[in-house]
Amino acid sequence: MKLQFTLAMAALVSLYSATSLAAGDAAKGKVLFATCGACHGANGEGQEALNAPRLQGQQDWYVIRQLQNFKAGIRGANPKDTFGMQMAPMSQTLPNDQAMADVAAYIKTLK
Ligand code: HEC
Repeated sequence: MKLQFTLAMAALVSLYSATSLAAGDAAKGKVLFATCGACHGANGEGQEALNAPRLQGQQDWYVIRQLQNFKAGIRGANPKDTFGMQMAPMSQTLPNDQAMADVAAYIKTLK
């Protein structure tokens, strides 16, 4: 019960922070994406050899949620999650939720 409450509050807080964010700035996101492209491809097309999936065409809210989960250790923290553990430290290069929104806005422009 207590855990359920905590989870509900966490969901609410993340929902609030997601909606209270300023819209992502794709120009700033482009600079941040330089790191990401090394694994995910310059156009976010994905590179199977590096186990990095396609990001191109992905919805911004989903990208932001995954980045938040990686950074919070919800995703990519279990030693059995080999590929998630490769991505988790990369999420640390994004200083805050605004940076995540910016990079997601840039990903949205990729074709
Ligand atoms: C060292 C290589 C590497 C770098 C650099 C990297 N990633 Fe990843 N990323 C991965 C891997 C591997 C996965 C797959 C994780 C899994 O299988 O759960 C992944 C997964 C993701 C996902 C989840 C995709 C989904 O569909 O759930 C997102 C979003 C993402 N990366 C965004 C980024 C962003 C933004 C950056 C730059 C800040 C970045 N990545 C940099 C390797 C990398």
